[in-house]
Amino acid sequence: MNPEQWAEVDRYFNRHQIADDATLDAALEASAAAELPTIAVSAAQGKLLQLFARMVGARRILEIGTLGGYSTLWLARALPQGGRLVTLELESKHAEVARANFARAGVGGLIEVRVGPAAHGLARLAAEKCAPFDLVFIDADKASIPEYFEGALRLSHVGTAIVVDNVVRQGAVVDAMSADEGVRGVRRFMEALANEKRVSATTIQTVGAKGYDGFTLALVNAI
Ligand code: SAH
Ligand code: DHB
Ligand code: MG
Repeated sequence: MNPEQWAEVDRYFNRHQIADDATLDAALEASAAAELPTIAVSAAQGKLLQLFARMVGARRILEIGTLGGYSTLWLARALPQGGRLVTLELESKHAEVARANFARAGVGGLIEVRVGPAAHGLARLAAEKCAPFDLVFIDADKASIPEYFEGALRLSHVGTAIVVDNVVRQGAVVDAMSADEGVRGVRRFMEALANEKRVSATTIQTVGAKGYDGFTLALVNAI
């Protein structure tokens, strides 16, 4: 088994399950042209996020870490009429690329990009006493995952689904001695999760077009 084979198998399944989509392709092309890092979710992962959003009947979605808005577009397309998506992004350049992608996709009116540190964005959302979100996708800096998860819980209701990306890090997550800030963030998150009565969670390791990684899915049981 090797990454090229994982990518080939992804392409095989995608051919049968994921329609060609010029708007999504254009979002990736615009992100590459602006020299954003190529770390967006894969097509299969984007579709999975969209299906999760539909499974929980999401009308309000929160994303932490926009980049060029590729995952955002997958999620936004799950929204019913009147649905809303808020996405938090540190880098104004990333936010600008994302906004242009949303406008081109015709979903700019559903999506609010808030620029600044996500910790600040989460605190602001809580202070605004906005309605809770139905699905939260955590995909910004990995060092702060525990704080983002706590922030997401404060903006959740019973039944909210919280998806945390990139928790496996090519298996590095099991290295208790790791100096990697991302690994340390994931490990702090796992320690918090072990004592967290408000959610029921599981983690799935993944291989595919994005190599070896994985995500945690947490469903809110009580608030
Ligand atoms: N969700 C995107 C990928 C996000 S990549 C997709 O799958 O298409 C991670 C993003 O988080 C980057 O754009 C990065 O600038 C942003 N980020 C990093 N640190 C952040 C912080 N402290 N607050 C908000 N966003 C942050
Ligand atoms: C990184 C971030 C991501 O969101 C991702 O999906 C893959 C890698 C990173 O920061 O390295
Ligand atoms: Mg990610």
